[in-house]
Amino acid sequence: MYGKIKIAPSILSANFMKMGEDIAMIERCGADIIHVDVMDGHFVPNLTMGVPFLKDLNKIAKLPVDVHLMISNPLEELPWFIAAGAWGITVHYEAFDDPATGIHEAIGLIHAAGIRACVSLKPDTPVEVLRPFIADLDMVLMMSVYPGFSGQSYIEGTENRVAEVVALCDELGCDVDIQVDGGIKASTVERVARAGADIFVMGSACFTAADPAAAMAEVRELGSAAGAEGAGRR
Ligand code: DX5
Ligand code: ZN
Repeated sequence: MYGKIKIAPSILSANFMKMGEDIAMIERCGADIIHVDVMDGHFVPNLTMGVPFLKDLNKIAKLPVDVHLMISNPLEELPWFIAAGAWGITVHYEAFDDPATGIHEAIGLIHAAGIRACVSLKPDTPVEVLRPFIADLDMVLMMSVYPGFSGQSYIEGTENRVAEVVALCDELGCDVDIQVDGGIKASTVERVARAGADIFVMGSACFTAADPAAAMAEVRELGSAAGAEGAGRR
């Protein structure tokens, strides 16, 4: 939280017929992280990319590959995704039948592979559920839309939830990166950055921009300034 701003384009908004070109484009245009949205048609009502895609992506990607798993029963498939390769893996709290034991096991598997562990919350899951394990995480992903599709509008008030994550970390004496995902663009980034978020997923705002480099630079600039303001107030 309040770290250096990072921009993570979500390749769900890329042209799937020109995926290699689009990845090269974001790498050239100043992205920091490649955000991969894995959806299984059960946990969310959409079906996207999976393990074979991730394996090939890892062969060409120059940037860190961050995998956002929106799948039911993540413990069953986690070993496949870990083997495919990633810089970090995010699981959803709501995807576990028994989050109390499941999340702990997932964090253990991800960390045993030497990669970053992250847990994501849907917009209506209380931040308080993070308390038992947040100190073991590298990152929290706060959804600012209901997961499933790109191009949705930012849900107002997500910034208050980001502030709750910061407060929880302060109380527990831990620090995590806070990523926000959904509807992030120049007009929405400042409020979440001011609240303490530091990694911004950009799907449609990056790939539909006439000038993706300028769009990412603008979000980075606005986010950095607002983040500095927020840190100053603490
Ligand atoms: C939504 C995905 C997001 C999405 C972001 O379920 O997790 O990563 O692709 O797209 P935008 O930025 O267009 O909301
Ligand atoms: Zn995502």
